[in-house]
Amino acid sequence: MEFELTEEQSMLQQAARDFADREIAPAAAELDKEARWPTEIVKKMAELGFLGVAVPTEYGGAGLDTVSYVLAMEEVSRACASCGVIMSVNNSLFCDPVLKFGTEEQKRKVLTPVAQGEKLGCFGLTEPMSGSDAQTMVTSAKLESDRWIIEGSKNFITNGPEADWMLVFAVTDIEPSGKRRHTAFLVPMSHPGLSKGPHDEKMGIKAAHSCTVFFEGVELEDKWRVGERGQGFKVAMATLDGGRIGIAAQALGISQAALGKSVAYAKERKAFGQPIAKFQAIQFMISDMATELDAARLLTLRAACMKDAGVRHTVESACAKLYASEASSRITHKAIQIHGGYGYTTEFGIERHYRDARITEIYEGTSEIQRLVIAAGMLKG
Ligand code: CAA
Repeated sequence: MEFELTEEQSMLQQAARDFADREIAPAAAELDKEARWPTEIVKKMAELGFLGVAVPTEYGGAGLDTVSYVLAMEEVSRACASCGVIMSVNNSLFCDPVLKFGTEEQKRKVLTPVAQGEKLGCFGLTEPMSGSDAQTMVTSAKLESDRWIIEGSKNFITNGPEADWMLVFAVTDIEPSGKRRHTAFLVPMSHPGLSKGPHDEKMGIKAAHSCTVFFEGVELEDKWRVGERGQGFKVAMATLDGGRIGIAAQALGISQAALGKSVAYAKERKAFGQPIAKFQAIQFMISDMATELDAARLLTLRAACMKDAGVRHTVESACAKLYASEASSRITHKAIQIHGGYGYTTEFGIERHYRDARITEIYEGTSEIQRLVIAAGMLKG
């Protein structure tokens, strides 16, 4: 087993670390407070190749691998989890499936500008009444002569308010048994018939905007279908296998921020005549935080290595996301405890990490869904 990063991966990690410390961290608290979209940071992430990390250079990406993507995601999310999820949606939920299932024309016309960060992508799976049980979506696409007509709505669409393109999933066929078949499509967000609701007001990741997107008679040529007709659910599930690695990496970044600040604070803050780092109560919390973060990082990198090797990684991605997200909630909880009253205020940004960690247990499949996916893998056969 190889634990060393390649030279290229180490360089990317260092570049991401420097960028996050210099350009993102100083702005993060204000972005959160004002729930402001980080326009300048997104632009710079594009320049650094962070919006298409694992996309080949011929399609506008950085031509790196999933391990590099995880390393960059962790650093960006350490500084600002909102910037992390903007990056993650563009990479994992848009570029990755278009690269994997798209036509050459889709890769040239849509993937390339999105991977370059000139345009932004989003992912339309969830609906008001269909979250964990994704197959029950009601958004439909009907083929009328040579055009698909899409009707319905998608909600909690991260990047939705700013995105240029959406990968949207719709029911296209119902079998005699009643089983629904889904198909994926690429839709420009400026398309006639497509409209957006107001920004969602959220507990955390406030600078990453999301909204509901409505489709009323959205007409689309068949050339914008992604993958085979009726195979859209598999496109969605395979995409989420990769997406969950991205969210696990986001959770790593949030945890690392909370741990790093806790170690620094414990050495500075004095109580009963000595730094609180001298007390076992604090040392034990820091030990648990460090161990959990390390375990989460190893699970995430293992899933990334498997994706890079082209090996099915459904269970490993679910394990990584499940563990990294729940660990992040525990780690940020302890970070507040170590900081005491200061952790509860906005002064050190710990309460932001605590709020941001919570979503990683929910989106791209709740912890309960990850457990179902892992159990299905363990019990099959
Ligand atoms: N890869 C490829 N195909 C897969 C697959 C995978 N990982 N998992 C399942 N499939 C295929 C199955 O083989 C099956 O194929 P057939 O129809 O040919 O038999 C088909 O998909 C249906 O599979 P299941 O019967 O297992 O499906 P299910 O209805 O029981 O659902 C589920 C499974 C795991 C619960 C799934 O619905 C799920 O993942 N739910 C969570 C949804 C989710 O993660 N949403 C996230 C939204 S995006 C988001 O959150 C973005 C954001 O905000 C940042």
